[in-house]
Amino acid sequence: MSHNLAIRGGLLATATETFRADIGIRDGRIVTIAEAVTDAEDVIDATDRIVMPGGIEAHCHIAQESGMGVMTSDDYQSGSISAAFGGNSCFVPFAAQKTGQSLAETMQTYDGRAVPKSVLDWSYHLILTDPTPDVLAELPEVFAKGVTSFKVFMTYATRVSDAQFLDILSVAGRHGALTMVHAENHDMLDWMARRMVEGGNVAPRYHAPSRPGLAEEEAINRAISLARLAQAPLFIVHVSTQVGAELVANARAKGGQVWAETCPQYLFLTREDLDKPDMEGAKFICSPPLRDTSTQAALWQHVQAGSLSLVSSDHAPYRYDETGKFNAGHDISFRQIANGMPGIEMRLPLLFSEGVTKGRISLNQFVALSSTNAAQIYGMLPRKGSLSIGADADIAIWDPNETWFADEMHDAMDYNPFAGIKVTGRPVTVLGRGRRIVDKGELIAEPGSGQFVKRAPVDSTGHPGQPVPELDPTQNFGAILP
Ligand code: URP
Ligand code: ZN
Ligand code: ZN
Repeated sequence: MSHNLAIRGGLLATATETFRADIGIRDGRIVTIAEAVTDAEDVIDATDRIVMPGGIEAHCHIAQESGMGVMTSDDYQSGSISAAFGGNSCFVPFAAQKTGQSLAETMQTYDGRAVPKSVLDWSYHLILTDPTPDVLAELPEVFAKGVTSFKVFMTYATRVSDAQFLDILSVAGRHGALTMVHAENHDMLDWMARRMVEGGNVAPRYHAPSRPGLAEEEAINRAISLARLAQAPLFIVHVSTQVGAELVANARAKGGQVWAETCPQYLFLTREDLDKPDMEGAKFICSPPLRDTSTQAALWQHVQAGSLSLVSSDHAPYRYDETGKFNAGHDISFRQIANGMPGIEMRLPLLFSEGVTKGRISLNQFVALSSTNAAQIYGMLPRKGSLSIGADADIAIWDPNETWFADEMHDAMDYNPFAGIKVTGRPVTVLGRGRRIVDKGELIAEPGSGQFVKRAPVDSTGHPGQPVPELDPTQNFGAILP
């Protein structure tokens, strides 16, 4: 049996094991894992390197207009290239429905943005902002196309009501789809922000106290309750509070079909970063806002314990100029500054350096958090997120010892919120379906060489749910519920 490519001499790391082996790749797939693979047309020498599944970036905003109508600086070309330099071989950006738009139109719009440009394989999470009955009726069709996750907001102008949220959860749940939620209580935020501004507290730093942790805690609790009532699985994006993470852990401990993530900005930055001279703090405005060091420590504990299943970037790139942060002008309050920060290329190096190198998490936990859990939760296993026979050869080869300082990235941004941080460990080669996407600091793949990934339904095996007695026919007088 001959191979197109062999990766030789590396230390392989999966979500559960670390061992020395060679990998043989044929027609884009892993076909051999053996002590020695000697018959290959092309060889990558992985001596002194760690070989792991390529990262899967499952929360990023690419070629997407924000709720305020501001387009991200990254399109599918720069966004996928930056992700690849950061060790990812697959990503799942959002396809955001506009008010009045059908889901077919939404998907067509994003296909037009992704197909010609992406160097990575990709899928979408669909953002629902206008869940009319017609739109809900379209959901199963989207699901059949392999887009098996939907996101809703509990805040922003694009938020859904609790009743709409229940309808979406219910349809998604019946079809094996996963509903994702940005959980913050809109009215609490709006009330606080109005008081801040009325009091003359308009500088970027006031963004943090205008969005209290309590607003996230309340919304996470409500989202989990709504998902229980709808008997549907739920994923909570960008958890930024200790209590929020505890609510997730508690629901999971009781069998709840609940998953959640946090993001590097909540592990590595604090609200003090918002308190910079002039408008510099605008670079650190994201929602939920940056918190404090004790919250960082609590979130690390939940990452370690597994109650937070992913560390995703929430890459939401708006430049520090009038195309991005200052789209509404320069003399503005924190409320008018575009929300979001970049980080798609920093996510894995930061997690490796601060997590694995500093002994907070094992190498196997790193693989789970960066790749395998995303593949499992979002219906891509065993094709993605795995070093196994038959899997796509989506592979990241890391130098665990290179030490470098975060600086300019390959995205279309004009700042890096993590600039200056010392990092140990760096991805050197990233493969997607066996082709080199980046290799030793060079981009190899062509724009448009990525492919859409059709995803499977959510697998809730092992998460029996938290039944609500009023839905049990023996306890609700046999009520008929459509
Ligand atoms: O501030 C952020 N995170 N902006 C992007 C949109 C969102 O809420 O994820
Ligand atoms: Zn969000
Ligand atoms: Zn986001």
